[in-house]
Formats: sequence, C-alpha cells, structure tokens
Amino acid sequence: MSELLTVALPKGRVLRAVAPLFARAGADVSALLADDRTLVRESRALGLRFLLLKPDDVPTYVEYGAADLGVCGRDVLMERTCDLYQPLDLGVGVCRMAVAGVRGRPPPTGVPRVATKYPRIAADHFARRGIQADVVYVQGSVELAPITGLSDLIVDLVETGVTLEQNGLEERELVARVSSVLVANRAAYKLQQQRVRALVDALRGAVSAAA
Ligand code: PRP
Repeated sequence: MSELLTVALPKGRVLRAVAPLFARAGADVSALLADDRTLVRESRALGLRFLLLKPDDVPTYVEYGAADLGVCGRDVLMERTCDLYQPLDLGVGVCRMAVAGVRGRPPPTGVPRVATKYPRIAADHFARRGIQADVVYVQGSVELAPITGLSDLIVDLVETGVTLEQNGLEERELVARVSSVLVANRAAYKLQQQRVRALVDALRGAVSAAA
C-alpha cells in the first residue's frame, strides 16, 4: 500500500476552485497551486499526492486504480460509463448543460443537427424527448457551429452565459445541472477505508463550511 493517497485533479478552473476545499480539509496546497509544469504534487501534511490531468482523463485514472480518488464534473461522468463511487458533491464548478440556438431564430423544423462535445448526453436528451436528432461531434468552440451553419443547435455547458450572449445565441432547454464531484476507486474505498473516509469526511466539512 502506498504511503500517500493519490488524488487525480483536473487542471485549470476546477483545480483553483477545489484547492481551497483541500486547504480547509488540512492540506498544504502551496505545491498544488505552484505555477510550474510538474504533473505530480504532494501535500505531505495530509498524506496526499495530486496528479494533474485533463478533466476527461480523471475517471480513467481512478477507475484503473492509478489514483485512489479524483475530482471530475458530472458532465464527464454522464458522457461515459465508469464504475466509480461518487461519495461527495463538492459544490464547485457549478454550471448547467443546455440546448442553445441562434437568438430569435425559430426552432428547426425536421431533424435538427446538434453540435456538441457531449454526443451521448445530447443523443440521450433528444431521445428522452422523442425527437430524432443528428448529433455532430466537435471538440470545442461549440458556439461557432450554429452561427456558421454547421448545426441548428448546440448542447454545451453554460456557466455565466457570456459565451452564448457574445456569440448571438440563447438558451432553449436545460439538459442537466452540473457540478464537480469527488469520485473514488471501488477497491481503494474498501481496502483503504480509514484513510479514504477520513479525507471524504474532511472534505465534506470543508464543503459545508464553504456553503
Ligand atoms: C466552456 C463551455 C462554454 C463556456 C461557457 O468552454 O464549453 O463554451 O465555457 O462559459 P460561460 O457561460 O461562462 O461563458 P471552455 O472555456 O471550457 O472552452 P471550449 O470552448 O474550448 O470548450
């Protein structure tokens, strides 16, 4: 058994939002927030090793046991099938998955073409509503799709709404509310129960205190 618990974290916005929770839980997050290119950071005070990853890779590292725990968005968990415990909603990275279209343009007649980074979530959403849709995968800058004629609609994350607003789009439907959750490897949750649960409890306290 490793001496440190390994926690997979997404680089970027969510990392800056979860670092204060780990600090409140007792971790020294100065190494975690250091502005360098190292991908492994340690907080010996709380016995943690952090891995800094692309958000989509967090569930993979945790599911295969390369990390004991991780932080990822519900959007990532909804888009793919993974076998993980989800012991705690961290209450950060709060946003929504929404359908959007060009402002003022009437809803498409016929089969709508929908551009998205989340093909499974989009297909499930339209299927649930009994609407046939042609889902097109794009990697980013999704808002460009309807204003260039690539698609009629998009399914994407909306946080402040500024990106939609500045690109002449409007929200049409809510697909799901999204936030960052703590995920845990099933074996680690059982075999390292004491250490994992202590960290989950400390983070739960930090989330309550931040609320
Ligand atoms: C995300 C999302 C939207 C934007 C929403 O994109 O895909 O484009 O943020 O945020 P807002 O409602 O606060 O404007 P991200 O910044 O991750 O970049 P991407 O377009 O490359 O995916």
